[in-house]
Amino acid sequence: MEIISGSKILVLLHLSCFCLKFGTALDSITSSKSIKDPENITSSNGVFRLGFFSLPNSTNRYVGMWYNVGSPESSVIWVANKNKPLKDNSGFVMIAEDGNLVVLNGQKEILWSSNIGNRLTNVSAQVSDSGNLVLQNMNGVSLWESFQQPSNNAYVPSMRIRTNARTSEKVQLTSWKSSSDPSNGSFSLGLRTFLKSSFGT
Ligand SMILES: *[C@@H]1O[C@H](CO)[C@@H](O)[C@H](O)[C@H]1NC(C)=O
Ligand SMILES: *[C@@H]1O[C@H](CO)[C@@H](O)[C@H](O)[C@H]1NC(C)=O
Ligand SMILES: *[C@@H]1O[C@H](CO)[C@@H](O)[C@H](O)[C@H]1NC(C)=O
Ligand SMILES: *[C@@H]1O[C@H](CO)[C@@H](O)[C@H](O)[C@H]1NC(C)=O
Repeated sequence: MEIISGSKILVLLHLSCFCLKFGTALDSITSSKSIKDPENITSSNGVFRLGFFSLPNSTNRYVGMWYNVGSPESSVIWVANKNKPLKDNSGFVMIAEDGNLVVLNGQKEILWSSNIGNRLTNVSAQVSDSGNLVLQNMNGVSLWESFQQPSNNAYVPSMRIRTNARTSEKVQLTSWKSSSDPSNGSFSLGLRTFLKSSFGT
């Protein structure tokens, strides 16, 4: 009895230290905090979760975000490695040395990368309360957002489908191949050009 309560106190102490130290970062992946299957992180309002999931009739693992209610597969809003599934449970998500957010398999092969620049320092990836995954620098400047690159079948209320005619950057939603395979299907929804005047003032 003595020993059990002693270790409980230790666990509590450990947890409270953890919370004091990292309490603001439980919704984030940082260079010192990666997640490995089946770990996950949740937006600070608790509505969205980022983690690993499988789809029905498939053992492939994907990294994505979903509404934090019920099962991931029924409420996925974004998939990172949709075209390159993890084949087992050895995957992880981390901030790579070049500063990109990456999904790696157990062999440390990159299956997906945010793929912006290569000399980013002190970046972190945060699951925002609106379901946007934001890669930002230490000043909170956004460098990459999942809302800009949804390639997905789901639409979150505050997300905007947009396209930038100047940079020809394009945001579009792409259908899944099937309910067990989120890789590119045959349909997409997006805007080809953005004409400000056509929306009035
Ligand atoms: C979330 O993470 C916890 C702790 O690692 C794990 O036990 C749980 O199964 C995970 N949930 C999902 C849906 O991945
Ligand atoms: C899974 O496989 C079974 C048997 O082939 C099939 O009846 C079922 O519809 C499949 N489910 C999904 C979601 O594809
Ligand atoms: C990164 O953050 C650490 C701790 O906050 C700080 O000591 C370091 O100077 C930062 N590096 C850069 C390049 O800003
Ligand atoms: C999947 O679709 C996205 C756009 O929706 C495109 O950028 C990407 O290149 C496609 N990937 C493959 C493997 O077809």
